[in-house]
Amino acid sequence: MELPVGMLLLLHCTIVVAAPGQFWHITDLHLDPDYNVTSDPLKVCPSAGNRPVTGAGKWGNYLCDSPWILINSSVHAMKEILHDPDFILWTGDDTPHVPNENLGEEKVLHIVEKITNLLKEVFPGTKVYPAIGNHDFHPKSQLPPQNNSIYRRIAQFWQPWLSNDSIPTFQNCAFYSEPLNKEFSGRIIVLNTNLYYDSNNQTGSMEDPGGQFEWLEEELKYASNVGEKVYIVGHVPPGMFEMKRNKGWFRPHFNKRYVDIIKKYHQVIAAQFFGHHHTDTFRMFYSDSGSPVSTLFIAPGITPWKTTLPGVSNGANNPGIRVFDYDRETLQIKDMVTYYLNLTYSNIESPRWEKEYRLTETFHVLDGSVNSMQAVLNKISTNNCYLQKYYEYNSVNHDLTICDHNCRIDHVCAIREVDYSKYDECLSTESSSSMSQQVSLLIIITLVVLFI
Ligand SMILES: *[C@@H]1O[C@H](CO)[C@@H](O)[C@H](O)[C@H]1NC(C)=O
Ligand SMILES: *[C@@H]1O[C@H](CO)[C@@H](O)[C@H](O)[C@H]1NC(C)=O
Ligand SMILES: *[C@@H]1O[C@H](CO)[C@@H](O)[C@H](O)[C@H]1NC(C)=O
Ligand SMILES: *[C@@H]1O[C@H](CO)[C@@H](O)[C@H](O)[C@H]1NC(C)=O
Ligand SMILES: *[C@@H]1O[C@H](CO)[C@@H](O)[C@H](O)[C@H]1NC(C)=O
Ligand SMILES: *[C@@H]1O[C@H](CO)[C@@H](O)[C@H](O)[C@H]1NC(C)=O
Ligand SMILES: [Zn+2]
Ligand SMILES: [Zn+2]
Repeated sequence: MELPVGMLLLLHCTIVVAAPGQFWHITDLHLDPDYNVTSDPLKVCPSAGNRPVTGAGKWGNYLCDSPWILINSSVHAMKEILHDPDFILWTGDDTPHVPNENLGEEKVLHIVEKITNLLKEVFPGTKVYPAIGNHDFHPKSQLPPQNNSIYRRIAQFWQPWLSNDSIPTFQNCAFYSEPLNKEFSGRIIVLNTNLYYDSNNQTGSMEDPGGQFEWLEEELKYASNVGEKVYIVGHVPPGMFEMKRNKGWFRPHFNKRYVDIIKKYHQVIAAQFFGHHHTDTFRMFYSDSGSPVSTLFIAPGITPWKTTLPGVSNGANNPGIRVFDYDRETLQIKDMVTYYLNLTYSNIESPRWEKEYRLTETFHVLDGSVNSMQAVLNKISTNNCYLQKYYEYNSVNHDLTICDHNCRIDHVCAIREVDYSKYDECLSTESSSSMSQQVSLLIIITLVVLFI
């Protein structure tokens, strides 16, 4: 059989132009080294605090951080699913949710080193771009904007992955920037956004802790000048938590500055990748005229730990890991596949990592570009079937209850408005529109009743 020349050319061109590659994004592993399968509900895991844990299984529990066996299983599952990724994004938070007194600097560093070593063993020769999380420090979340022993030790653990230039930058403030590949001009900028976290007492009164914003702008300016595309990577994301109304992480002046920078340099930013939520969601950024200009992807955590944040109704998740398909030349996101471990099933039967969903299949979009992600948001906000799918994936198939109209508002406004004041506006607009829908419904019912 002979293929027409035109078709051959087409095939050839597609391959050359698309330059497809794949990479992993994992986050929030949160090892609990003292996880213990026992029938004493108060002895299972320190990370449960005083919440009694019943039915603890070998692979973990929804009230606890990850046992080692779960972390080991996740990293080996990555290897099995995609053994030779272009690189791995690892966005931090390695230690258990326990009081500072029960950790200390040495314990924190030991856990970071242990997980680092696992990734090195299972993925020798693979480049990892790690970001530091608010739990990778002692005392937790108190990351300072200067050189200190924890940044120096972590820079040592990560030395085989970092370029020589990144080591001093990391020692100073735990951020760095590196060229991504040789053939094309791509760049990864890894930020220490823990400096903007409102739990961080070291930086709250500063304008630009560690000069990171200024540095970021310089990097982005440089990228625009030389025609590079960049990925921005970090742990604590800007914007609001979609599981709790009005809960943001960045202090307001930091959030505003971050949004302004993204708006200004969106043309070189191909995508942003963060963790910290432990949930699967995303955020959109818009130009002043309202066009979508950037997407920030938040990957689900590996720890199943149910959050203790007051006001969150069901804050646990199944462990999730994620592969992105991307164009090596433009860094455009082509697709995203999330894999997960059904923890309940795994504890009863045997550990099973399975595909949860593929972005383009589930949301019927072409790719993971900004316009496609805007289309996903439009579907979620106007169609209850898409909203419900998104909602179930948000907790990695753990919370399968119905996302009602308040839930819809929380998620849609958090995704749409990273800016805090625009988020407030969104809440009132969405609430009044659902209110007017309810009023119309009431009128219709009254009319119907009257006519009967
Ligand atoms: C694990 O559970 C056993 C049995 O209940 C108990 O004896 C042991 O002290 C526990 N270990 C830890 C580290 O809590
Ligand atoms: C880690 O997982 C691999 C692959 O499943 C397994 O062979 C190995 O024994 C595990 N190690 C630990 C310490 O659980
Ligand atoms: C990085 O630094 C090490 C030790 O200082 C040196 O041996 C190596 O050649 C440097 N690598 C590059 C690419 O400059
Ligand atoms: C950080 O401080 C250590 C110890 O004082 C020093 O050896 C190192 O060079 C400093 N790093 C940078 C980038 O200034
Ligand atoms: C940070 O500051 C707040 C408010 O002053 C205080 O309640 C909290 O204990 C401080 N946290 C740390 C770790 O210093
Ligand atoms: C997870 O496994 C449990 C136990 O087999 C099952 O009841 C549940 O439906 C599974 N969840 C999903 C989302 O498949
Ligand atoms: Zn975390
Ligand atoms: Zn965190």
